[in-house]
Amino acid sequence: MVFMKTLKEFQKKLIPEFIKSLEKYVDSSFSNGFIELNEIYKYHLGLGDDYSKQGKRIRPLLTLMCCAGTGADWQRALPAAVSIELIHNYSLIHDDIEDNGLMRRGKDAVWVKWGLPHGLNAGDAMFASAFEVLLALRDNVSESSMLKAVKLLAETCKQLAMGQFLDIDFEKRKFISVDEYLQMVNGKTAALISCSTKMGALIGEFPQEEQEKYHDFGKALGIAFQMYDDWLGIWGDFKNTGKSTTGDIVEGKKTLPIILGIKNSTRFADKLKTGKISQNVAIEMAKWLREDGIEEIVIDTYTQWTENAFVSLEEMKCTRHVRNALMELTNNLLIRKK
Ligand code: IPE
Ligand code: IPE
Ligand code: MG
Ligand code: MG
Repeated sequence: MVFMKTLKEFQKKLIPEFIKSLEKYVDSSFSNGFIELNEIYKYHLGLGDDYSKQGKRIRPLLTLMCCAGTGADWQRALPAAVSIELIHNYSLIHDDIEDNGLMRRGKDAVWVKWGLPHGLNAGDAMFASAFEVLLALRDNVSESSMLKAVKLLAETCKQLAMGQFLDIDFEKRKFISVDEYLQMVNGKTAALISCSTKMGALIGEFPQEEQEKYHDFGKALGIAFQMYDDWLGIWGDFKNTGKSTTGDIVEGKKTLPIILGIKNSTRFADKLKTGKISQNVAIEMAKWLREDGIEEIVIDTYTQWTENAFVSLEEMKCTRHVRNALMELTNNLLIRKK
């Protein structure tokens, strides 16, 4: 068994093992030979693409590391890691339809390539696949823990849908408070990230109160993660993120820089009110957000949520190397390029 100490060592060992499990599941998921959906799965999941072009695999990494943090064998959590990554990817297939997102990870979004109806179909199939693969946990944990894992994932999916609902509803509204924004983000992003960390503790058979601490860490991390994604959505570089950097302003999304801009930058708020915004205008408006001090508030806000994540991480019962590696991962997520 390879002994892992640093974040790099965890990533080097766990991510390829995770991808092997994901590939194995995807290869067997349409055993009736229905190759069309199988092809969409492989395309969207980046299977066969260079690692640098695939998703970051943050959620499965968290699940496997958190399971290791309990002292249990991380391999036990592989079905859950695959399941959570499938839920994440189903949500992205549907999210690109909802957000009119044309590109994902530098490639055409599924609905752009196969059409909107098949985007829905592929997302639906992937959602079901996630629950199917989770059942493989029955070989690794007690029946009662497996049922708890299924319940946790189902509850998480409902929260994710509620968050996505609010995200779309907020497009039509002019003012969104930071509290309302947090409610949305808690659902659309932090729910699955906190499920990832808690799932690791659950599979490691930690008691409920310890699982809640893992959940709290994931929740704060997930909120900071989405805030930084919002930052990338305005000031990121398409070459790295592989997704639009004007779409949020053009589509009227209520991301953190935008809601703070509406509140604190008169020229930004006035321009938004004028209706349809072109890409060039969106680029100009991103500059105003920087000049008018909004970017600074965004950075302060996600830094504060990262601090909250560190506090929860300190309170978790966790092996020393995993805690240190999780600390490094948390820090890295705030300087990521994609
Ligand atoms: C994108 O998630 C959607 C958000 C919740 C911000 P990731 O940034 O984890 O996406 P990939 O899987 O690495 O592309
Ligand atoms: C992130 O949505 C959450 C989900 C996909 C459920 P966003 O719409 O904010 O994320 P990106 O920027 O398109 O990845
Ligand atoms: Mg969205
Ligand atoms: Mg989106």
